[in-house]
Amino acid sequence: MGRPAATAAAGAFLLLLLLLLPFLLAESRSFFPIRLPSDREDHEFNGDDDTVGTRWAVLIAGSSGYGNYRHQADVCHAYQIMKKGGLKDENIIVFMYDDIAYNEENPRRGIIINHPQGEDVYAGVPKDYVGEDVNVNNFFAVLLGNKTALTGGSGKVVDSGPDDHIFIFYSDHGGPGVLGMPTYPYLYADDLIAVLKKKHAAGTYKSMVFYLEACESGSIFEGLLPADINIYATTASNAVESSWGTYCPGEYPSPPPEYYTCLGDLYSVAWMEDSDIHNLRTETLKQQYQLVKARAAVHNTYSFGSHVMQYGDLDLNAEQLFLYIGSNPANDNATFIDDNALPSFSRAVNQRDADLLYFWHKYRESPEGSSKKLEAQKQLLEVMSHRLHVDNSMELIGKLLFGSEEGPKVLSTVRPTGQPLVDDWDCLKSLVRTFETHCGSLAQYGMKHMRSLANICNAGIKKETMAEVSAQACFRVPSNPWSSLHGGFSA
Ligand SMILES: *[C@@H]1O[C@H](CO)[C@@H](O)[C@H](O)[C@H]1NC(C)=O
Ligand SMILES: *[C@@H]1O[C@H](CO)[C@@H](O)[C@H](O)[C@H]1NC(C)=O
Repeated sequence: MGRPAATAAAGAFLLLLLLLLPFLLAESRSFFPIRLPSDREDHEFNGDDDTVGTRWAVLIAGSSGYGNYRHQADVCHAYQIMKKGGLKDENIIVFMYDDIAYNEENPRRGIIINHPQGEDVYAGVPKDYVGEDVNVNNFFAVLLGNKTALTGGSGKVVDSGPDDHIFIFYSDHGGPGVLGMPTYPYLYADDLIAVLKKKHAAGTYKSMVFYLEACESGSIFEGLLPADINIYATTASNAVESSWGTYCPGEYPSPPPEYYTCLGDLYSVAWMEDSDIHNLRTETLKQQYQLVKARAAVHNTYSFGSHVMQYGDLDLNAEQLFLYIGSNPANDNATFIDDNALPSFSRAVNQRDADLLYFWHKYRESPEGSSKKLEAQKQLLEVMSHRLHVDNSMELIGKLLFGSEEGPKVLSTVRPTGQPLVDDWDCLKSLVRTFETHCGSLAQYGMKHMRSLANICNAGIKKETMAEVSAQACFRVPSNPWSSLHGGFSA
């Protein structure tokens, strides 16, 4: 690089830091404790091993990359809870890309933690579906117990019967109507709901609990999950807000100094730290929901947190957690009462900004002049320019379609509570592919624009029109790692 070029690059980087500044300052916001629910309910001991059939658990981390450490950490931690709860390995199916424990950036090789002072949660985790085998097709095949539909992996599936209970935990990025995967395509809400209905029609479970951590995770079930198929779901956020990473660098409590990535997610950590210490034979799903809701709550004065939601068959929440995830015998005397609940979180990082925080801390902590520092700078610039490109392209498409006044309004319209994101999911998927053909991959960050694409469908715009305006808005497909040409489409 010549001197003027180097100066220009340094200038661009400074500009970028200025753009990031509000976000970095947000790290130092003050904190107020979250009050815990004071209402208590009486609950009866219910159920022992003979009455519950088999307990099955499917645990899935939908991301890859060291900057997403926290999703796989969440899933490994969940495995340890299932294991201590008495579930057998043959009934616990784990999906994780498995690129964290031995990642060259991991300061403790072979170890994954989910809390600043936490123990290793990686040991013993079964590697059922790792790497490219973490995909939508295998996830559905596992849920449906269909071995012939699998590609790769351990071959373990939910081979359940009518008396069995199934627990599913999913942790990742998401967007309206969509959940991430480390592979393409992503997982769309309509397909997931169709699989759950098919599982119900097969009569192969008594009841099912689905815990979901992702941005806009409420949109996966809102207006979509029926109340009469014996499924109870809780989500980290409602249909229109992000979910939050926690134990992030610069927070209190922060990870050990050698980590420049978040160790967990707010909702996930909340239900798991509760499950770690309590007798789950007596604690109900509802009690845990209320505790998690309070712990992840929005507090107006510091504007982080999300609305934890519940969907589906709400009567099921009177049941004990034990029915689904067992209980650690060491906690037999640790009955859930509100005042032994866990500390509130002081701060959290919006899931969508967690990768910026990661690249920024990686940049800041790498030695001056090292190749690692240069690489972190390059990654930060790339991820910022990808964000700008996707945001600007979508905004321009909206204006081309609906005019400069109406465009932004149409794209950001939120349908009333209880209605699904979109009526025609095939339209949504086809517009995703059209956008990506002309403008490059939406990728992890771009999932936030699913609502815009859904609204374009809801407005009756056809694929051909979308293709024309996308070509106008994006006259060249980005050639950076965000190109959809090598990666494949997210729908
Ligand atoms: C299992 O998957 C295969 C391959 O996708 C499919 O042909 C078959 O119909 C599925 N079986 C059931 C019971 O759904
Ligand atoms: C629970 O309390 C009883 C009675 O005090 C005691 O015998 C038992 O060992 C305790 N169990 C555990 C797991 O601490």
